[in-house]
Amino acid sequence: MDNQVMPREQLGICAEGNLHSIYLMFNANDGVEDQLRPSIASVAQYIYELTDQYADSAFNGFVAIGANFWDTYYPEARPALLKPFPSMSEGNRDAPAIEYDLFVHIRCDRFDILHLVANEINQMFEDLVELVEEERGFRFMDNRDLTGFVDGTENPKGRHRQQVALVADEDPEFKSGSYVHVQKYAHNLSKWHRLPVKNQEDIIGRTKQDDIEYESEDKPLTSHIKRVNLKDANGASMEILRQSMPYGSVKEQGLMFISSCKTPDNFEQMLRSMIYGDGHGNHDHLMQFTKALTGSSFFAPSLDFLLQWDE
Ligand code: HEM
Repeated sequence: MDNQVMPREQLGICAEGNLHSIYLMFNANDGVEDQLRPSIASVAQYIYELTDQYADSAFNGFVAIGANFWDTYYPEARPALLKPFPSMSEGNRDAPAIEYDLFVHIRCDRFDILHLVANEINQMFEDLVELVEEERGFRFMDNRDLTGFVDGTENPKGRHRQQVALVADEDPEFKSGSYVHVQKYAHNLSKWHRLPVKNQEDIIGRTKQDDIEYESEDKPLTSHIKRVNLKDANGASMEILRQSMPYGSVKEQGLMFISSCKTPDNFEQMLRSMIYGDGHGNHDHLMQFTKALTGSSFFAPSLDFLLQWDE
């Protein structure tokens, strides 16, 4: 690949929010690596083209390859920082690792289009993979999580989204790719709704109705915002781009938490701070009301990286 030319990112990584999403997790059948690489390239190209075709409905998406399976498919080179999901457990706070070979993330403001495209993608992979997990996400109210709090307010904006989410010159072969972490959280909403609103707000660190951030001195050390708002050794904010959406049915519902970043370290540090706390017993109290059912680590390479193996 010519390093002078900026490889094209997969457009779903940094896209703005949508009304609907479909998440497909696949595991590959044995011995299909050589056929799978061109199929992955075709699916990524297909998603890229549909982004133009269905621009009116803001279609977008990306394909990402599981950390544990990268070397099987692309043994020639590995993203410098790619590693398995950092599973964690402390008290009743668990972040288990459940890895998949492939993650296809598609979003659109029309659900019928998404449904068609998801079927088409499944067809394109047929006989090569097994669809092991499927979930559908939706926008809830004015961009709220099912807890009732607005989610995504402090996400990077405009071109800063690319700066946060995409690998740059530090790893030239994987430029415009992104480290992706996915956790499916099932909420205990009956427990949450029994909590007075003021206590809920103390747990998030923002007001519920108006989504106003607490003053620094008022933020409990156990609030979600306090636990995830971290600085690096140079005092710079550690950021991730969140693409989370509510999912589920009456039986089981919660948040598909999705983080994209140019490094996997920011997500890992934040999760560590939520689960293990700050060393003084202050862990994230939001975790008392939700449970991570999965945890997977992927890399979403640039479109041009994937197309090297196009048929
Ligand atoms: C902020 C909800 C999991 C990282 C927020 C906010 C809400 C929220 C309501 C405040 C509004 C906003 O700025 O977006 C949730 C829920 C989660 C969850 C319901 C799971 C059930 C996580 C995880 C991480 C994370 C696992 C990272 C490991 C962040 C970050 C912010 C944030 C970085 C912005 C903080 C700031 O700069 O103020 N989250 N979150 N969240 N969350 Fe989460």
